[in-house]
Amino acid sequence: MKSIAIIGPMGSGKSTVGHLLSQRLNWPWVDLDEWIEMHEKRSVQKIFQESGEEYFRKLEEEQITLWTEQSPLVISLGGGAPCSPDRWNLVQENYFTLYLQVRESVLLARLENDRSDRPLIADRDDWKEFYLDLLSQRKSYYEKADWILDLDNENPEEVVQRILDHVLQ
Ligand code: S3P
Repeated sequence: MKSIAIIGPMGSGKSTVGHLLSQRLNWPWVDLDEWIEMHEKRSVQKIFQESGEEYFRKLEEEQITLWTEQSPLVISLGGGAPCSPDRWNLVQENYFTLYLQVRESVLLARLENDRSDRPLIADRDDWKEFYLDLLSQRKSYYEKADWILDLDNENPEEVVQRILDHVLQ
């Protein structure tokens, strides 16, 4: 059985949903950002500050590659992790991809108070414009997912139930 990669933008609930889904499936769960932080012994914020985004993207690719060796599992990717041609190919070849497509107004409302550990938007006054612009650039990747789950503001349990009832049938 192929592993499942949860993809989508910051604030779409990838970690919470991925964790719950793994519990329901009784599969291991990997949070890519957490693994990178453990591996580097510093936060994503610090990695961006000290080593830059390009370095972080290399770490993402390394960790995604590493986790392809174990399956099945559920992996929650960071928002930008699948968004380059090479990283998309890597993800798509090795995982069933599930895009949590959440309404933009819901994403912005969630991020309003939850930006401090997200270096791309933490310190920007124009974070909403920046975020929406990034989202529109990345949609071309997200929308290639094997499954797209169209979401409003359901709670994580409801989202996981929908995945189990409709997607993994
Ligand atoms: C990023 C999203 C973050 C994290 C990093 C970069 C992005 O993960 O990987 O701050 O490029 O969208 P979440 O999507 O879990 O917030």
